[in-house]
Amino acid sequence: MDDVFESQRTFLGAQSSRSHKLPFPQVFASPIEYPATAADHPIWRVPTPSLLLNPKRAADNFRAIQNAFAFCNAQVGYAMKANPHPWLLSAIADVPGSLFEIASKAEIQTLLDMGIDGSRIFFSNPVKQPAHIEFAVRNGIRLFVYDSESELDKLEQFNDPQNPLEVYVRMTAPHTGALWPLTHKFGVEPRAAVQLLKSAKARGLKPVGLAFHVGSQCTRPDTWIDALAAIAPAWKMAREAGIELDMIDMGGGFPAPYTNPVPKPYEVADAVRDALDEFVPGYKRVFLEPGRGICGDAGDMVLQVTGVAERPDGQTWLYLDGGFFSGLYEIPDGIRPSVQPLIRESRPLGMRTYRLAGPTCDSLDTLFEMRSPVELKMGDRLVLKTSGAYIYSVSSPFNGFATPEILREDEWMLRITDFQGIC
Ligand SMILES: Cc1ncc(COP(=O)(O)O)c(C=O)c1O
Repeated sequence: MDDVFESQRTFLGAQSSRSHKLPFPQVFASPIEYPATAADHPIWRVPTPSLLLNPKRAADNFRAIQNAFAFCNAQVGYAMKANPHPWLLSAIADVPGSLFEIASKAEIQTLLDMGIDGSRIFFSNPVKQPAHIEFAVRNGIRLFVYDSESELDKLEQFNDPQNPLEVYVRMTAPHTGALWPLTHKFGVEPRAAVQLLKSAKARGLKPVGLAFHVGSQCTRPDTWIDALAAIAPAWKMAREAGIELDMIDMGGGFPAPYTNPVPKPYEVADAVRDALDEFVPGYKRVFLEPGRGICGDAGDMVLQVTGVAERPDGQTWLYLDGGFFSGLYEIPDGIRPSVQPLIRESRPLGMRTYRLAGPTCDSLDTLFEMRSPVELKMGDRLVLKTSGAYIYSVSSPFNGFATPEILREDEWMLRITDFQGIC
């Protein structure tokens, strides 16, 4: 029982230090009860499944990365694949100096429609479709990544040797400490990188640099150092071969705070400060492509319990109106939000273990095991914190279930900090 009371103490302590329009929760139960959330709290009127977005938080995160890397004047491009909702895009577009990293024609079109022009966009998908390259060039995008000769065949078609496109090579890099590794699919080793840079030059393109990605949700700042060390031989060999490299793209990977504290952008910046000079001496331009680190904690998901069942395996299953196909596809691989259960009437404390599952009939649609300090029933809600990244962009209406409705957190008088994750 001890940990039950510990959860309760932490929970009540966290609530009492806050002040906002509607107290959350309003009913403070006796210490042996899990507190209800007031029936008139706006959280009960939020439709479910939904995603409450906080664009200001995304812009603040963007500025934090810019500021941390001001020492090298890094150009930060938001990896819009992580959450291309227009509210977030426009909040980030308003940050002076902001750029956008894209992977497809449709992403470019979204930005153009918002009045963001090609000079603020770079194309860092190593394998592109020719029509997408053509569209990008026509709309003023000048910087492209590649990691194969066949990609150069495509880029060459749309290049004007009088005003050549800038190209840079994606390299393989260590992924230690990344919860979502991006290994194998892209990237080359140093010798192949140098060969590709020479080939680009021979074809009339302008090779300018090297890129890597340490993997998503990377919680080990030293991995960026390891990656710089891994690409250093290519930098050296290329420059010795007369290729005037001046840029380095250190990708994304900045972590979002899920259930544990994570390194802040300045901790990653402090780690790479000296390594840049050591491993890519003479660099002039640094690019970053953060996605999750910008939007991860700029969204919370609200789900409703639609069923509870005991199964022959002895487990209690809790069925929700959103799941794997609502965009929660990373959960089975370990990227887990913290969860705040919401109930309408106070209930006795008592630790329960639930298997969470989404609404569809597919067995893939299971999430994770959750310990709740209180019994949960139909109609209760769960707030999944730190749900801003990759959920909105990936959610599908599979099996006829609605994708999460997107709402502005401020319009619902809710703040992300209202919800203290406890599971
Ligand atoms: C090329 C590229 N850049 C940036 C990102 C963003 O990564 P993260 O969300 O980990 O910052 C990704 C993610 O897949 C990527 O593939």
